[in-house]
Amino acid sequence: MNRPFVFINVAMTADGKIDTFARKGAAISSQRDKERVDKLRAESDAVMVGGRTLLDEDPKLTVKSDELRAKRVARGLAPNPAKVGVVSNAEFKSHSKFIYEGGGRVVIFTTYRTSKDQLASLRSHDLKDRVEVFVHESERVDLGIMMQTLKELGINRLMVEGGATLNFELIRHGLVDEVSAYVAPMIFGGEKAPTMVSGSGFERGEAVPLKLIRVEQWDDGVLLNYKVERSL
Ligand SMILES: NC(=O)c1ccc[n+]([C@@H]2O[C@H](COP(=O)([O-])OP(=O)(O)OC[C@H]3O[C@@H](n4cnc5c(N)ncnc54)[C@H](OP(=O)(O)O)[C@@H]3O)[C@@H](O)[C@H]2O)c1
Repeated sequence: MNRPFVFINVAMTADGKIDTFARKGAAISSQRDKERVDKLRAESDAVMVGGRTLLDEDPKLTVKSDELRAKRVARGLAPNPAKVGVVSNAEFKSHSKFIYEGGGRVVIFTTYRTSKDQLASLRSHDLKDRVEVFVHESERVDLGIMMQTLKELGINRLMVEGGATLNFELIRHGLVDEVSAYVAPMIFGGEKAPTMVSGSGFERGEAVPLKLIRVEQWDDGVLLNYKVERSL
């Protein structure tokens, strides 16, 4: 495969929402799910987020457990997986946690919409050994090319942590192998609250088929793991 193995992981409510209508990154995971997510991160070569999650929430995306980080180091890896951002206009705030927390490798895919000044600051002296920026000369990042680049950078296992628009674009392009979701026992409702996958959506005939490969009840929540039947 000329791309990494790609899996999406989300925490969602029983009505499929991954945040409330307020879009402030509402807490959905249980403690046990947070530990599962930490393990998934620790087992991945890179963790990816889309532009809105990246710029609005500025996630750290680091491995929280000292033990899991130590195990990575014992395997000859960096303590944290690389962080990957897909963002049309990479206007990061000056002390972005995404870029600085964890001190590890950061890969940013962006477009001509990112200003020259911002590109220069991302490629500045103090970041140049850690931050790689790929500029696609188009309106949106070409996700197929992005995946090839990630593979060339040695990323073989990629965890995607949202949001809804990036999830849709990756699935639409056949670039997702598995989807896992912790379904929390709560309902958010709200037409404007994001679901696991948004974008323009599919007609019924184009719906992406899934195969259930794992299901577990965790108290009143459920862990679901699907294989995508039509990935490229
Ligand atoms: N519960 C969970 O597990 C979880 C996890 C992550 C996020 N979330 C929630 O998801 C919500 C955010 O989702 P979202 O759909 O609004 O945003 P998103 O998927 O995080 O980011 C979408 C943005 O990424 C950029 N993007 C996507 N594909 C691109 C491409 N091919 N090329 C260039 N840029 C691309 C676009 O920026 P431009 O519009 O600038 O082009 C797009 O608007 C938040 O409420 C967050 O809390 C929940």
